Amino acid sequence: MNIKVFVAGHKGLAGSAVKRQLEKKGYQNIIFRTRQELDLRNREKVMNFFKAEKPDWVFLAAAKVGGIYANQNYPVDFLLSNLRIQNNVIEAAQISGTEKLLFLGSACIYPEKAAQPLKEDCLLNSKLAPANEPYAIAKIAGIKLCGAFNRQYGTDFLCVMPSNIYGLNDNYHMENAHVIPVLIRRCHAAKINNRPEFTVWGTGSQRREFLYSDDLAEACVFLMERHSAKNIGEIINIGTGSDCSIMELAEQIKDITGYKGNIVPDRSRPDGSNKRLLDISRINQLGWKSTMPLSKGLSIVYKDFIDNENIRK
Ligand SMILES: NC(=O)c1ccc[n+]([C@@H]2O[C@H](COP(=O)([O-])OP(=O)(O)OC[C@H]3O[C@@H](n4cnc5c(N)ncnc54)[C@H](OP(=O)(O)O)[C@@H]3O)[C@@H](O)[C@H]2O)c1
Repeated sequence: MNIKVFVAGHKGLAGSAVKRQLEKKGYQNIIFRTRQELDLRNREKVMNFFKAEKPDWVFLAAAKVGGIYANQNYPVDFLLSNLRIQNNVIEAAQISGTEKLLFLGSACIYPEKAAQPLKEDCLLNSKLAPANEPYAIAKIAGIKLCGAFNRQYGTDFLCVMPSNIYGLNDNYHMENAHVIPVLIRRCHAAKINNRPEFTVWGTGSQRREFLYSDDLAEACVFLMERHSAKNIGEIINIGTGSDCSIMELAEQIKDITGYKGNIVPDRSRPDGSNKRLLDISRINQLGWKSTMPLSKGLSIVYKDFIDNENIRK
């Protein structure tokens, strides 16, 4: 419990959950830096930080993250910022002697037409979905870099691929947010302004899998404590094993908020991939399963949204 753990991105959705999970388990020596204190795109600063702190473990949950809109409008940021952050942190970890690192990838790394549910071995089998290609290419480069360090330098750098994450500390920014915060915000606004409807992007038929951030964090700490890159392989999926359509998700959010109006698909907007469901048999075989039902997770998140409404961007 005294090992020094650096959580990169500790204020974000995934990173804050990892920090909570480590604290809950009694880890005493967790270190973190805000972006203002340490911009992870700055190689020199990252190298100096690692040289001074020498963390034993690193959870790399800092990244430029966003939904379809942000991916389409800021492709340079998604490619370049993510490459810079992960290159700096992964290399600095090896140089400073970090014992273990966990790199957070994404289900977006899998090819658009891969068979569902998505197995780990379909990585790079065929073309990526164009909607988030820059982000996916950066994440794939991160996976390959961890693998390369493991082969060349004998490091133990693990790569996990979570499905869509939701939970406390999510980003509700109108441009950059993911589907759950966007729908919560729109539905809540429609309710308090007595609007007759709110929209979902695309047809609403596209299917997605949603993982509660504290479940993700539990899986990440479980893997770091009990497993190594050697036994999990190049990448491992983390998900719930079930998906729902975006329209079904919007209906659940409508029920939770108590909104009585209609949900209207905005067909002028892109759908993204038709379906993205992970095959989670490998992590299940290792002994981990998610526990948070979507309806309960959404209720917790909606309460958090209401409680912190006045401080939302
Ligand atoms: N959200 C999802 O649905 C999802 C799904 C699968 C995988 N993932 C992966 O999980 C990881 C975390 O995602 P998330 O949803 O937790 O993202 P998030 O909520 O946006 O958090 C990202 C964190 O990274 C920090 N950060 C970004 N750029 C930085 C920089 N240049 N220097 C220092 N810190 C920086 C942010 O700091 P600020 O607070 O200052 O912005 C924030 O704390 C990412 O690798 C992502 O690819 C996310």
